[in-house]
Amino acid sequence: MLPEEERNVQTSSGNVDAGPLVVPVALASGGYEIHIGAGLVGRLGELCPPKCGARAVLVSSDRIPAEYADRCMTSLRAAGWAVEQLAVPDGEGAKSLAQAERLYEGCLDAGLDRGATVFALGGGVVGDLSGFVAATFMRGIAFVPVPTTLLSQVDASVGGKTAIDLPRAKNLVGAFHQPALVVADVSTLSTLPAREYLSGMAEVVKHAAIADEGLFRQLEGLGGRCLLADPSGLARVVARNCEIKARVVAADAHETGVRACLNFGHTIGHALEAAASGWSLRHGEAVALGMVAESEAAVRLGLASPEVPTRLRDLLRAQGLALHVGSVDLVRAHAALAHDKKVVNGRLRLPLVPCIGEVTITEGLPVAELAAALDGLLRAGA
Ligand SMILES: NC(=O)c1ccc[n+]([C@@H]2O[C@H](COP(=O)([O-])OP(=O)(O)OC[C@H]3O[C@@H](n4cnc5c(N)ncnc54)[C@H](O)[C@@H]3O)[C@@H](O)[C@H]2O)c1
Ligand SMILES: [Zn+2]
Repeated sequence: MLPEEERNVQTSSGNVDAGPLVVPVALASGGYEIHIGAGLVGRLGELCPPKCGARAVLVSSDRIPAEYADRCMTSLRAAGWAVEQLAVPDGEGAKSLAQAERLYEGCLDAGLDRGATVFALGGGVVGDLSGFVAATFMRGIAFVPVPTTLLSQVDASVGGKTAIDLPRAKNLVGAFHQPALVVADVSTLSTLPAREYLSGMAEVVKHAAIADEGLFRQLEGLGGRCLLADPSGLARVVARNCEIKARVVAADAHETGVRACLNFGHTIGHALEAAASGWSLRHGEAVALGMVAESEAAVRLGLASPEVPTRLRDLLRAQGLALHVGSVDLVRAHAALAHDKKVVNGRLRLPLVPCIGEVTITEGLPVAELAAALDGLLRAGA
């Protein structure tokens, strides 16, 4: 189901532990590289030397430890960039038109021209907002994400989707804008709150489940151990995830076909997110529950091996995802599922995992089956 792959992670030295890992992202429009390793924020200027324009802004938020921004700024200035720092508030609320406008003003104050670059140091929120500003300021300037959450390193910073939210809906205004380079420093993950790390881990498990049984087994082999204890192992896992997402994105840059495979677990996941009160469920926690429930529905329909939900549940729990539905309102969850924009005449098109490491897009799946799986989760208190 997924496009054929060439395994092409490279290291500058050929030795995984010595240099950053480099994942090339091939696109019809040219492509770019993702550099992954420990301590890369202090080498940002070296990895991204100024080319035609040397003006830049570095966008970050006040929750990202200041030392990361300091190291980025020192390294960029040492490499010859004229760079100013801009701050946005923490949290999803920053993905707004008002914050985008503040950043446009900041870009003007910093003297940015068409040859300038926007660096984004932070998680998916800073990345989506800064990417949107880079996509639209002067009709598009260069963008370099420096993702600092596991979710943004393995997911949000790969694929070129940028967005802001409107009060009525998330990610409603946005643009496809591919980065010039991505620099993922895995050592920044050491300060990430545990719940944010686990939210990213759910997407790591998703990538393994849809595309790489070997990676899935490697994660199972960790038992309860956390990848953060082994920076070079963590870098390899992040790189493998970027490869998997990059392969899908390269085949479907504008999200018209195979990219739907990345939505495994997301139909029920989104319904749970929509029905949870406040921030009681992080995105990855909802996706983890969604993967288990969608796989259980697939087993009932004879579309998946019974070991799929079992292995998913065991791995997610071993890695620390509690698989708790929390304060989800059952009525709202059902309404969200029924109103999913993919549902037509009570049926939908859904990516399912028939066995670990493979994914298929199933057409015409009855939404009632997913509703039953959702009920199962809520009854069990998962
Ligand atoms: N563009 C895409 O393809 C794509 C894909 C998936 C998700 N997203 C978007 O990404 C956003 C979620 O991203 P996220 O999960 O990274 O959340 P986030 O950006 O809100 O970061 C989570 C929290 O961790 C803090 N943080 C970040 N890095 C830290 C670090 N190294 N140390 C300490 N604290 C740190 C942040 O300040 C924040 O409080 C959503 O808005 C979602 O829509 C986009
Ligand atoms: Zn997701």
